[in-house]
Amino acid sequence: MKITQTQELTPSEAIILPLQKGAVDTKLIKEISGIQSEISFKADFKEIKVLYHPTENRAIYLLGLGEEKHASKAYLASRLLAHKHNKDWKEKISLDCRNLDSQTIAQVIQGFKLASYRIGRFKEEKEIAKFYSEDFNVQVIGDQSLDMTIETSVATAESMIQVMKLIDAPPNEKIPEYLADWALASAKKYGYQAEVLNASDLKKEGLDALLSVGQGSKFPPVLIKTEYKPDNLKSDTPKFGLVGKGITFDTGGLSIKGAQNLHYMKSDMGGGAAVLGAVELAARLKLDIHVVGLVACAENAVDADSYRPGDVINSYSGKTIEIIDTDAEGRLVLADALAYIKKNYSPEYIIDLATLTGSAVMSLGYSAGALFSNDDHLADTISECGFTVDERVWRMPLFEDFETDLESDIADVRNFSGKPLAGAITAAKFLEFFVKDHPKWAHLDIAGVAFGDSEFSKMKSAKGYGPRLLVEVMKKLK
Ligand code: BES
Ligand code: ZN
Ligand code: ZN
Repeated sequence: MKITQTQELTPSEAIILPLQKGAVDTKLIKEISGIQSEISFKADFKEIKVLYHPTENRAIYLLGLGEEKHASKAYLASRLLAHKHNKDWKEKISLDCRNLDSQTIAQVIQGFKLASYRIGRFKEEKEIAKFYSEDFNVQVIGDQSLDMTIETSVATAESMIQVMKLIDAPPNEKIPEYLADWALASAKKYGYQAEVLNASDLKKEGLDALLSVGQGSKFPPVLIKTEYKPDNLKSDTPKFGLVGKGITFDTGGLSIKGAQNLHYMKSDMGGGAAVLGAVELAARLKLDIHVVGLVACAENAVDADSYRPGDVINSYSGKTIEIIDTDAEGRLVLADALAYIKKNYSPEYIIDLATLTGSAVMSLGYSAGALFSNDDHLADTISECGFTVDERVWRMPLFEDFETDLESDIADVRNFSGKPLAGAITAAKFLEFFVKDHPKWAHLDIAGVAFGDSEFSKMKSAKGYGPRLLVEVMKKLK
């Protein structure tokens, strides 16, 4: 899809007119549609009305963007319109944005671009609509210059699409090496650094927790290291450390999960994908920030070689861990990646993202990620940005009370309390144990928001969570 600005209304097969509630311009509707009779359209959020020009061969789509409270979600309205109607479009459509401010235009374009994500890429090719081809044209009509708006929205949507593609990819395809290759290719394309520690590097460096989780799989674990900094980095620019959980498939290991919904555990690298997408987007937008993104990738498989409940393992931090439940694997790979980023990069801020617990979903449903932080300013910033970009988080406590739950008789810490209580909190407390003395750390348990039901797929699918939120947070804190 090519999105470009045009000054003049040139003939196209369809004109889309996005409208905000309370600002429905009936004169403009009449002018574009050629229909003179009264047209009832309230511009409610996601309301769609299709009109046909009486003499010219073209359709006019009125698209409701809703009220002020829908402002951060307007992209969903335009994505829905394109998702529903794209089969009717052959090569060129127009987006009439003359009535909108640039923020709303950005939202509408982002949604259109997101609609070009084709989840059914393994389906037989014959039915693919023209809309999904590279040379399908979207011409944006607007009064002011929209080049920057278009560029930023397209880059943002494309990074989100990359995240969705990785999360929706089947687990036999996206083995750890696949995620590593993705990062290397993206880094090359957009001009940032990427490096991969393979299993023998991990052994040498002592990332034993990551190795333990991956030891039952024939696809060995990797640590993906990415870094973006602008050409002329200022000395006072803070360094952000992002860490993602990259479990390419989570069977639970020997503490095996049930069969119901097990296929959805391909999404257990959602935190890692968020980190990869965010670093890519920062590089594409050439942001004035310094960011390091680490993703700890492994497959948590069932095998004679799998790590066991009862095992005591080492970790990069030097702390020993007693394994109580092999399904609490995410915190183990994160423990190593967190200790690694702290020791080797000394970032001013550390933010980790993980589809870490079912408990985060039980607590907040699919409406918000669970946020934990030892720094109020960092927490407030992430919360605020979550609302701005429609990727909400809600803060939860790191009370000291939960510390005894993780005490082990034979090792420094155990990976599960054994209690069916406050699972998202105890998981966060486990991570805190490995970042303890870092003053500005935040943990986002995104199990409920990275992947879920939507109007764009029949089964659960990826949401593209991460790049927008992380870029917004880094821009705010720099
Ligand atoms: N990957 C899961 C968490 C998860 C659950 C993500 C549902 C998305 C949807 C994680 O590794 C896990 O299995 N967590 C366990 C931890 C428990 C064994 C301590 C959980 O939450 O039940
Ligand atoms: Zn698990
Ligand atoms: Zn998991």
